[in-house]
Amino acid sequence: MTISLYQEHLATLQTRYEKAMQHFQIDAIVLASGDKSYYFQDDHTAPFHAYSGAQQWLPFTLSAETYLVIQAGTKPRLVWPIRDDFWHAPNPVPEGEWQNEWQISPARKDDAWFSSLPEKCAWLGPKPQPFARTVNGLNAYVDFSKAVKTPFEINAMRLSTERAVKGHLAAKDAFLAGMSELEVHLAFLKASQQTAAQEPYPGIVGINDHAAVLHYEHKDFNRSARPLTLLIDAGASEHGYASDITRTFVRHNDEFSALVDSLDRMEQGLARSAMSGVDYRELHQDTLEGIAGLLNEHKICRLSPEEQMAKGIPQVFFPHGLGHLLGLQVHDVGGFQIDELGTTRKDEKAPFLRLTRTLEENMVITIEPGLYFIPMLLEKMQADIPQHGCDLALIERFKPYGGIRIEDNVVVQDDVPVNLTRNAFQG
Ligand code: GLY
Ligand code: MN
Ligand code: MN
Repeated sequence: MTISLYQEHLATLQTRYEKAMQHFQIDAIVLASGDKSYYFQDDHTAPFHAYSGAQQWLPFTLSAETYLVIQAGTKPRLVWPIRDDFWHAPNPVPEGEWQNEWQISPARKDDAWFSSLPEKCAWLGPKPQPFARTVNGLNAYVDFSKAVKTPFEINAMRLSTERAVKGHLAAKDAFLAGMSELEVHLAFLKASQQTAAQEPYPGIVGINDHAAVLHYEHKDFNRSARPLTLLIDAGASEHGYASDITRTFVRHNDEFSALVDSLDRMEQGLARSAMSGVDYRELHQDTLEGIAGLLNEHKICRLSPEEQMAKGIPQVFFPHGLGHLLGLQVHDVGGFQIDELGTTRKDEKAPFLRLTRTLEENMVITIEPGLYFIPMLLEKMQADIPQHGCDLALIERFKPYGGIRIEDNVVVQDDVPVNLTRNAFQG
Protein backbone atom coordinates (compact mmCIF):
# COMPACT_ATOMS: atom_id res chain seq x y z
CA MET A 1 0.00 0.00 0.00
CA THR A 2 1.30 3.44 -0.80
CA ILE A 3 0.57 5.96 1.91
CA SER A 4 -0.75 8.51 -0.58
CA LEU A 5 -3.58 6.14 -1.62
CA TYR A 6 -4.56 5.76 2.03
CA GLN A 7 -4.30 9.50 2.72
CA GLU A 8 -6.55 10.23 -0.23
CA HIS A 9 -9.03 7.56 0.99
CA LEU A 10 -9.12 9.08 4.48
CA ALA A 11 -9.67 12.56 3.05
CA THR A 12 -12.65 11.24 1.05
CA LEU A 13 -14.15 9.58 4.13
CA GLN A 14 -13.59 12.69 6.23
CA THR A 15 -15.43 14.80 3.62
CA ARG A 16 -18.32 12.32 3.44
CA TYR A 17 -18.67 12.19 7.22
CA GLU A 18 -18.37 15.98 7.68
CA LYS A 19 -21.22 16.38 5.18
CA ALA A 20 -23.29 13.88 7.17
CA MET A 21 -22.54 15.67 10.48
CA GLN A 22 -23.63 18.95 8.95
CA HIS A 23 -26.81 17.38 7.56
CA PHE A 24 -27.81 15.85 10.92
CA GLN A 25 -26.47 18.76 13.03
CA ILE A 26 -24.11 16.62 15.08
CA ASP A 27 -20.59 17.36 16.29
CA ALA A 28 -19.02 13.88 16.37
CA ILE A 29 -19.59 10.32 15.24
CA VAL A 30 -18.30 7.31 17.16
CA LEU A 31 -17.84 4.15 15.10
CA ALA A 32 -17.55 0.88 17.05
CA SER A 33 -15.90 -2.22 15.61
CA GLY A 34 -18.15 -4.45 17.78
CA ASP A 35 -17.64 -7.16 20.38
CA LYS A 36 -16.79 -10.81 20.09
CA SER A 37 -19.83 -13.05 20.20
CA TYR A 38 -19.71 -16.09 22.50
CA TYR A 39 -21.52 -19.30 21.62
CA PHE A 40 -24.41 -20.08 23.94
CA GLN A 41 -23.15 -21.32 27.33
CA ASP A 42 -19.64 -21.63 25.97
CA ASP A 43 -16.32 -19.84 26.43
CA HIS A 44 -15.24 -19.47 22.83
CA THR A 45 -16.45 -17.14 20.16
CA ALA A 46 -17.60 -16.97 16.55
CA PRO A 47 -14.96 -15.60 14.13
CA PHE A 48 -14.92 -11.83 14.57
CA HIS A 49 -15.81 -9.52 11.67
CA ALA A 50 -15.58 -5.83 12.51
CA TYR A 51 -18.49 -3.53 11.63
CA SER A 52 -17.65 -2.55 8.07
CA GLY A 53 -18.28 1.16 8.68
CA ALA A 54 -15.43 1.17 11.22
CA GLN A 55 -13.17 -1.14 9.18
CA GLN A 56 -13.40 1.23 6.21
CA TRP A 57 -11.22 3.81 8.00
CA LEU A 58 -8.20 1.59 8.68
CA PRO A 59 -5.63 -0.19 6.50
CA PHE A 60 -5.45 -3.42 8.55
CA THR A 61 -7.99 -5.91 9.87
CA LEU A 62 -9.74 -4.33 12.82
CA SER A 63 -10.25 -6.28 16.03
CA ALA A 64 -13.05 -6.11 18.60
CA GLU A 65 -13.74 -3.28 21.09
CA THR A 66 -12.03 -0.63 18.99
CA TYR A 67 -13.64 2.81 18.60
CA LEU A 68 -13.14 5.63 16.12
CA VAL A 69 -14.16 9.22 16.78
CA ILE A 70 -14.75 11.45 13.78
CA GLN A 71 -15.07 15.24 14.15
CA ALA A 72 -14.88 18.09 11.67
CA GLY A 73 -11.52 19.78 11.23
CA THR A 74 -9.44 17.33 13.34
CA LYS A 75 -7.57 14.12 12.70
CA PRO A 76 -9.74 11.09 13.45
CA ARG A 77 -9.16 9.49 16.85
CA LEU A 78 -8.54 5.78 17.30
CA VAL A 79 -9.39 4.36 20.72
CA TRP A 80 -7.26 1.23 20.87
CA PRO A 81 -8.09 -1.54 23.37
CA ILE A 82 -5.38 -2.41 25.89
CA ARG A 83 -5.97 -5.96 27.06
CA ASP A 84 -4.33 -7.19 30.24
CA ASP A 85 -4.79 -10.74 29.09
CA PHE A 86 -2.23 -13.57 29.03
CA TRP A 87 -4.74 -16.03 27.51
CA HIS A 88 -4.63 -14.45 24.07
CA ALA A 89 -1.96 -13.02 21.77
CA PRO A 90 -0.96 -9.41 22.51
CA ASN A 91 -2.71 -6.73 20.48
CA PRO A 92 -0.13 -4.04 19.67
CA VAL A 93 -1.05 -1.04 17.50
CA PRO A 94 0.18 -1.97 13.99
CA GLU A 95 3.31 -0.11 12.90
CA GLY A 96 3.28 2.10 9.84
CA GLU A 97 2.94 5.54 8.33
CA TRP A 98 -0.85 5.34 8.69
CA GLN A 99 -0.32 6.28 12.36
CA ASN A 100 0.58 9.85 11.32
CA GLU A 101 -2.99 10.35 10.13
CA TRP A 102 -4.56 9.45 13.50
CA GLN A 103 -4.69 10.52 17.13
CA ILE A 104 -4.20 7.20 18.87
CA SER A 105 -5.59 6.76 22.41
CA PRO A 106 -4.87 3.38 24.02
CA ALA A 107 -7.60 2.64 26.58
CA ARG A 108 -8.53 -0.12 29.01
CA LYS A 109 -12.07 -1.48 29.11
CA ASP A 110 -13.08 0.67 32.09
CA ASP A 111 -11.30 3.89 31.03
CA ALA A 112 -13.64 6.82 30.43
CA TRP A 113 -12.14 7.63 27.01
CA PHE A 114 -15.52 9.09 25.98
CA SER A 115 -15.66 11.76 28.70
CA SER A 116 -14.35 14.46 26.35
CA LEU A 117 -16.86 13.81 23.57
CA PRO A 118 -19.14 16.67 22.53
CA GLU A 119 -22.78 16.67 23.64
CA LYS A 120 -24.18 16.05 20.14
CA CYS A 121 -22.49 12.78 19.39
CA ALA A 122 -23.86 9.98 17.17
CA TRP A 123 -23.12 6.26 17.34
CA LEU A 124 -22.63 3.92 14.40
CA GLY A 125 -22.12 0.22 14.96
CA PRO A 126 -23.43 -2.48 17.27
CA LYS A 127 -24.53 -1.91 20.89
CA PRO A 128 -25.00 1.90 21.19
CA GLN A 129 -23.67 3.35 24.47
CA PRO A 130 -25.31 6.10 26.58
CA PHE A 131 -22.69 8.73 25.65
CA ALA A 132 -23.69 8.73 21.98
CA ARG A 133 -27.08 8.49 20.34
CA THR A 134 -28.51 6.61 17.46
CA VAL A 135 -29.46 9.19 14.84
CA ASN A 136 -32.26 8.07 12.52
CA GLY A 137 -31.16 8.14 8.92
CA LEU A 138 -27.42 8.56 9.59
CA ASN A 139 -26.61 4.96 8.78
CA ALA A 140 -28.34 5.12 5.38
CA TYR A 141 -26.75 8.50 4.69
CA VAL A 142 -23.19 7.21 5.07
CA ASP A 143 -23.97 3.83 3.49
CA PHE A 144 -25.14 5.36 0.22
CA SER A 145 -21.73 6.72 -0.74
CA LYS A 146 -19.92 3.45 0.17
CA ALA A 147 -21.00 1.98 -3.18
CA VAL A 148 -18.47 4.17 -4.99
CA LYS A 149 -15.02 2.91 -4.06
CA THR A 150 -11.86 4.99 -3.60
CA PRO A 151 -8.64 4.01 -5.42
CA PHE A 152 -7.37 2.62 -2.07
CA GLU A 153 -10.41 0.34 -1.84
CA ILE A 154 -10.15 -0.79 -5.45
CA ASN A 155 -6.49 -1.61 -4.87
CA ALA A 156 -7.42 -3.72 -1.81
CA MET A 157 -9.99 -5.61 -3.87
CA ARG A 158 -7.47 -6.15 -6.65
CA LEU A 159 -5.16 -7.77 -4.08
CA SER A 160 -7.93 -9.89 -2.58
CA THR A 161 -8.87 -11.00 -6.10
CA GLU A 162 -5.30 -11.98 -6.94
CA ARG A 163 -5.07 -14.11 -3.82
CA ALA A 164 -8.41 -15.82 -4.43
CA VAL A 165 -7.50 -16.57 -8.04
CA LYS A 166 -4.38 -18.44 -6.88
CA GLY A 167 -6.78 -20.51 -4.79
CA HIS A 168 -9.12 -21.16 -7.72
CA LEU A 169 -6.27 -22.41 -9.88
CA ALA A 170 -5.14 -24.78 -7.13
CA ALA A 171 -8.75 -25.93 -6.63
CA LYS A 172 -9.04 -26.69 -10.35
CA ASP A 173 -5.88 -28.83 -10.23
CA ALA A 174 -7.13 -30.69 -7.15
CA PHE A 175 -10.47 -31.38 -8.85
CA LEU A 176 -8.79 -32.62 -12.04
CA ALA A 177 -6.66 -34.92 -9.85
CA GLY A 178 -9.88 -36.49 -8.50
CA MET A 179 -9.84 -34.96 -5.00
CA SER A 180 -12.87 -34.67 -2.70
CA GLU A 181 -14.71 -31.42 -1.99
CA LEU A 182 -12.86 -31.14 1.32
CA GLU A 183 -9.49 -31.65 -0.37
CA VAL A 184 -10.38 -29.10 -3.06
CA HIS A 185 -11.33 -26.58 -0.38
CA LEU A 186 -8.09 -27.18 1.53
CA ALA A 187 -6.12 -26.68 -1.70
CA PHE A 188 -8.00 -23.41 -2.24
CA LEU A 189 -7.25 -22.20 1.30
CA LYS A 190 -3.59 -23.11 1.11
CA ALA A 191 -2.98 -21.39 -2.21
CA SER A 192 -4.96 -18.29 -1.22
CA GLN A 193 -3.14 -18.20 2.14
CA GLN A 194 -6.04 -18.07 4.54
CA THR A 195 -7.87 -20.12 7.13
CA ALA A 196 -11.53 -20.99 6.63
CA ALA A 197 -12.43 -18.45 9.35
CA GLN A 198 -10.70 -15.71 7.34
CA GLU A 199 -12.68 -16.32 4.17
CA PRO A 200 -15.01 -13.40 3.39
CA TYR A 201 -17.84 -15.96 3.20
CA PRO A 202 -17.77 -19.74 3.59
CA GLY A 203 -16.39 -21.08 0.32
CA ILE A 204 -18.85 -23.12 -1.73
CA VAL A 205 -17.26 -26.23 -3.21
CA GLY A 206 -19.77 -28.43 -5.07
CA ILE A 207 -18.87 -31.44 -7.16
CA ASN A 208 -21.44 -32.86 -9.64
CA ASP A 209 -25.08 -32.41 -8.59
CA HIS A 210 -23.95 -30.39 -5.54
CA ALA A 211 -23.21 -27.65 -8.08
CA ALA A 212 -27.01 -27.25 -8.37
CA VAL A 213 -27.29 -26.17 -4.72
CA LEU A 214 -26.86 -22.39 -4.79
CA HIS A 215 -25.41 -22.04 -1.29
CA TYR A 216 -24.14 -25.60 -0.85
CA GLU A 217 -22.63 -25.58 2.64
CA HIS A 218 -20.99 -29.00 3.04
CA LYS A 219 -17.59 -30.36 2.07
CA ASP A 220 -17.85 -34.03 1.15
CA PHE A 221 -14.92 -36.03 2.59
CA ASN A 222 -15.35 -38.77 -0.01
CA ARG A 223 -13.92 -38.65 -3.50
CA SER A 224 -16.51 -38.99 -6.25
CA ALA A 225 -16.27 -42.18 -8.35
CA ARG A 226 -17.19 -40.16 -11.44
CA PRO A 227 -16.34 -36.48 -11.04
CA LEU A 228 -17.87 -34.32 -13.78
CA THR A 229 -18.16 -30.74 -12.57
CA LEU A 230 -16.64 -28.52 -9.90
CA LEU A 231 -18.46 -25.31 -8.98
CA ILE A 232 -16.31 -23.26 -6.63
CA ASP A 233 -17.54 -19.93 -5.28
CA ALA A 234 -14.83 -18.62 -2.97
CA GLY A 235 -12.97 -15.39 -2.26
CA ALA A 236 -10.31 -13.81 -0.11
CA SER A 237 -10.03 -10.54 1.77
CA GLU A 238 -7.51 -7.77 2.05
CA HIS A 239 -8.01 -5.97 5.39
CA GLY A 240 -11.70 -6.66 5.07
CA TYR A 241 -12.24 -5.98 1.35
CA ALA A 242 -13.66 -9.07 -0.28
CA SER A 243 -13.35 -10.80 -3.59
CA ASP A 244 -16.26 -13.06 -4.56
CA ILE A 245 -15.39 -15.35 -7.45
CA THR A 246 -17.05 -18.39 -8.99
CA ARG A 247 -15.69 -20.77 -11.55
CA THR A 248 -17.15 -23.97 -12.98
CA PHE A 249 -14.57 -26.52 -14.08
CA VAL A 250 -15.30 -29.67 -16.08
CA ARG A 251 -13.35 -32.84 -16.91
CA HIS A 252 -14.81 -33.77 -20.27
CA ASN A 253 -15.38 -32.18 -23.63
CA ASP A 254 -19.07 -32.78 -24.07
CA GLU A 255 -22.49 -31.14 -24.37
CA PHE A 256 -22.18 -29.77 -20.82
CA SER A 257 -18.75 -28.22 -21.43
CA ALA A 258 -20.21 -26.53 -24.52
CA LEU A 259 -22.85 -24.99 -22.25
CA VAL A 260 -20.13 -23.81 -19.84
CA ASP A 261 -18.28 -22.15 -22.74
CA SER A 262 -21.44 -20.38 -23.90
CA LEU A 263 -22.23 -19.09 -20.42
CA ASP A 264 -18.63 -17.95 -20.02
CA ARG A 265 -18.86 -15.90 -23.24
CA MET A 266 -22.16 -14.42 -22.14
CA GLU A 267 -20.75 -13.52 -18.72
CA GLN A 268 -17.83 -11.68 -20.29
CA GLY A 269 -20.22 -9.68 -22.47
CA LEU A 270 -22.29 -8.69 -19.43
CA ALA A 271 -19.14 -7.67 -17.54
CA ARG A 272 -18.17 -5.43 -20.47
CA SER A 273 -21.59 -3.73 -20.22
CA ALA A 274 -21.05 -2.59 -16.62
CA MET A 275 -20.71 1.08 -17.47
CA SER A 276 -21.82 4.26 -15.71
CA GLY A 277 -25.44 5.12 -16.38
CA VAL A 278 -26.54 1.51 -16.87
CA ASP A 279 -29.54 0.48 -14.76
CA TYR A 280 -28.45 -2.80 -13.14
CA ARG A 281 -32.07 -4.02 -13.20
CA GLU A 282 -31.91 -3.86 -17.00
CA LEU A 283 -28.66 -5.78 -17.04
CA HIS A 284 -30.43 -8.49 -15.04
CA GLN A 285 -33.25 -8.57 -17.62
CA ASP A 286 -30.63 -8.81 -20.40
CA THR A 287 -29.19 -11.80 -18.55
CA LEU A 288 -32.55 -13.57 -18.46
CA GLU A 289 -32.84 -13.01 -22.22
CA GLY A 290 -29.32 -14.32 -22.68
CA ILE A 291 -30.16 -17.46 -20.68
CA ALA A 292 -33.26 -17.96 -22.85
CA GLY A 293 -31.00 -17.70 -25.91
CA LEU A 294 -28.62 -20.35 -24.50
CA LEU A 295 -31.47 -22.71 -23.60
CA ASN A 296 -32.72 -22.48 -27.16
CA GLU A 297 -29.28 -22.71 -28.80
CA HIS A 298 -28.35 -25.79 -26.74
CA LYS A 299 -31.75 -27.39 -27.46
CA ILE A 300 -32.74 -27.49 -23.80
CA CYS A 301 -35.88 -25.51 -24.62
CA ARG A 302 -37.31 -25.31 -28.12
CA LEU A 303 -39.41 -22.18 -27.39
CA SER A 304 -38.09 -18.91 -28.79
CA PRO A 305 -36.43 -16.57 -26.26
CA GLU A 306 -39.52 -14.31 -26.42
CA GLU A 307 -41.87 -17.22 -25.65
CA GLN A 308 -39.58 -18.37 -22.83
CA MET A 309 -39.53 -14.88 -21.30
CA ALA A 310 -43.33 -14.74 -21.40
CA LYS A 311 -43.57 -18.07 -19.53
CA GLY A 312 -40.79 -17.43 -17.01
CA ILE A 313 -38.64 -20.33 -18.26
CA PRO A 314 -35.21 -18.66 -17.84
CA GLN A 315 -35.90 -18.19 -14.10
CA VAL A 316 -36.24 -21.99 -13.72
CA PHE A 317 -32.59 -22.35 -14.75
CA PHE A 318 -31.31 -19.01 -13.40
CA PRO A 319 -33.24 -18.38 -10.18
CA HIS A 320 -30.99 -15.76 -8.54
CA GLY A 321 -29.93 -12.20 -9.24
CA LEU A 322 -27.16 -11.15 -11.62
CA GLY A 323 -25.03 -9.84 -8.75
CA HIS A 324 -24.51 -7.23 -6.07
CA LEU A 325 -22.28 -4.48 -4.78
CA LEU A 326 -18.98 -5.78 -3.43
CA GLY A 327 -16.79 -4.23 -0.75
CA LEU A 328 -16.16 -4.74 2.93
CA GLN A 329 -19.27 -6.84 2.95
CA VAL A 330 -19.61 -9.45 0.26
CA HIS A 331 -23.16 -8.28 -0.36
CA ASP A 332 -22.18 -4.69 0.28
CA VAL A 333 -24.46 -2.12 1.87
CA GLY A 334 -26.64 0.30 -0.07
CA GLY A 335 -27.57 -1.96 -3.00
CA PHE A 336 -31.25 -1.03 -2.82
CA GLN A 337 -30.75 2.62 -1.91
CA ILE A 338 -31.39 5.24 -4.57
CA ASP A 339 -30.45 8.27 -2.47
CA GLU A 340 -28.62 9.14 0.72
CA LEU A 341 -31.90 9.78 2.55
CA GLY A 342 -32.45 6.04 2.51
CA THR A 343 -35.12 5.70 -0.18
CA THR A 344 -35.00 2.10 -1.33
CA ARG A 345 -36.10 0.42 -4.54
CA LYS A 346 -36.78 -3.27 -5.04
CA ASP A 347 -37.16 -4.90 -8.44
CA GLU A 348 -40.69 -6.32 -8.56
CA LYS A 349 -39.74 -8.55 -11.49
CA ALA A 350 -36.62 -9.89 -9.77
CA PRO A 351 -37.17 -10.12 -6.00
CA PHE A 352 -33.77 -11.77 -5.40
CA LEU A 353 -31.82 -9.02 -7.15
CA ARG A 354 -29.60 -7.33 -4.53
CA LEU A 355 -28.60 -4.34 -6.61
CA THR A 356 -31.23 -2.04 -8.11
CA ARG A 357 -29.15 1.10 -8.58
CA THR A 358 -27.93 2.85 -11.69
CA LEU A 359 -24.23 2.13 -12.02
CA GLU A 360 -21.67 4.86 -11.30
CA GLU A 361 -17.98 5.06 -12.02
CA ASN A 362 -15.88 3.10 -9.46
CA MET A 363 -18.73 1.08 -8.04
CA VAL A 364 -17.43 -2.48 -7.65
CA ILE A 365 -20.00 -5.11 -8.52
CA THR A 366 -20.25 -8.80 -9.25
CA ILE A 367 -21.51 -10.24 -12.51
CA GLU A 368 -22.59 -13.82 -11.83
CA PRO A 369 -24.99 -15.46 -14.24
CA GLY A 370 -25.76 -19.11 -13.66
CA LEU A 371 -27.53 -22.00 -15.32
CA TYR A 372 -28.55 -24.88 -13.07
CA PHE A 373 -30.51 -28.11 -13.21
CA ILE A 374 -32.31 -27.89 -9.85
CA PRO A 375 -34.72 -30.82 -9.40
CA MET A 376 -37.20 -28.84 -7.26
CA LEU A 377 -37.53 -26.03 -9.82
CA LEU A 378 -37.72 -28.44 -12.77
CA GLU A 379 -40.55 -30.35 -11.08
CA LYS A 380 -42.35 -27.09 -10.39
CA MET A 381 -41.94 -26.05 -14.03
CA GLN A 382 -43.52 -29.29 -15.22
CA ALA A 383 -46.41 -28.81 -12.79
CA ASP A 384 -46.99 -25.09 -13.37
CA ILE A 385 -45.96 -24.21 -16.94
CA PRO A 386 -47.97 -25.95 -19.63
CA GLN A 387 -46.10 -26.42 -22.92
CA HIS A 388 -42.78 -25.44 -21.42
CA GLY A 389 -41.03 -26.74 -24.51
CA CYS A 390 -38.11 -28.25 -22.56
CA ASP A 391 -36.37 -31.47 -23.55
CA LEU A 392 -36.78 -33.48 -20.36
CA ALA A 393 -34.55 -36.33 -21.56
CA LEU A 394 -31.68 -33.92 -22.20
CA ILE A 395 -32.28 -32.28 -18.81
CA GLU A 396 -32.01 -35.71 -17.14
CA ARG A 397 -28.60 -36.11 -18.81
CA PHE A 398 -27.52 -32.70 -17.50
CA LYS A 399 -28.72 -33.19 -13.91
CA PRO A 400 -25.62 -35.16 -12.74
CA TYR A 401 -23.48 -32.15 -13.73
CA GLY A 402 -25.45 -29.89 -11.34
CA GLY A 403 -25.02 -26.48 -12.85
CA ILE A 404 -22.81 -23.59 -13.83
CA ARG A 405 -22.03 -20.22 -12.29
CA ILE A 406 -19.36 -17.83 -13.45
CA GLU A 407 -18.71 -14.80 -11.29
CA ASP A 408 -16.34 -11.91 -11.86
CA ASN A 409 -15.67 -8.75 -9.86
CA VAL A 410 -15.87 -5.65 -11.99
CA VAL A 411 -15.04 -1.97 -11.47
CA VAL A 412 -17.63 0.16 -13.27
CA GLN A 413 -16.15 2.80 -15.55
CA ASP A 414 -17.54 5.49 -17.84
CA ASP A 415 -16.18 3.52 -20.80
CA VAL A 416 -14.41 0.13 -20.52
CA PRO A 417 -15.02 -1.53 -17.12
CA VAL A 418 -12.07 -3.12 -15.29
CA ASN A 419 -12.60 -6.84 -14.80
CA LEU A 420 -10.46 -7.52 -11.70
CA THR A 421 -11.06 -11.26 -11.90
CA ARG A 422 -10.20 -11.82 -15.57
CA ASN A 423 -7.12 -9.62 -15.14
CA ALA A 424 -5.96 -11.77 -12.23
CA PHE A 425 -6.57 -15.05 -14.10
CA GLN A 426 -4.51 -13.68 -16.99
CA GLY A 427 -1.73 -12.86 -14.47
N1 GLY B 1 -20.76 -15.97 -2.73
C1 GLY B 1 -22.04 -15.39 -2.58
C2 GLY B 1 -22.46 -14.69 -3.78
O1 GLY B 1 -21.94 -14.94 -4.84
O2 GLY B 1 -23.25 -13.80 -3.75
MN1 MN C 1 -21.60 -12.87 -5.48
MN1 MN D 1 -20.01 -15.78 -5.05
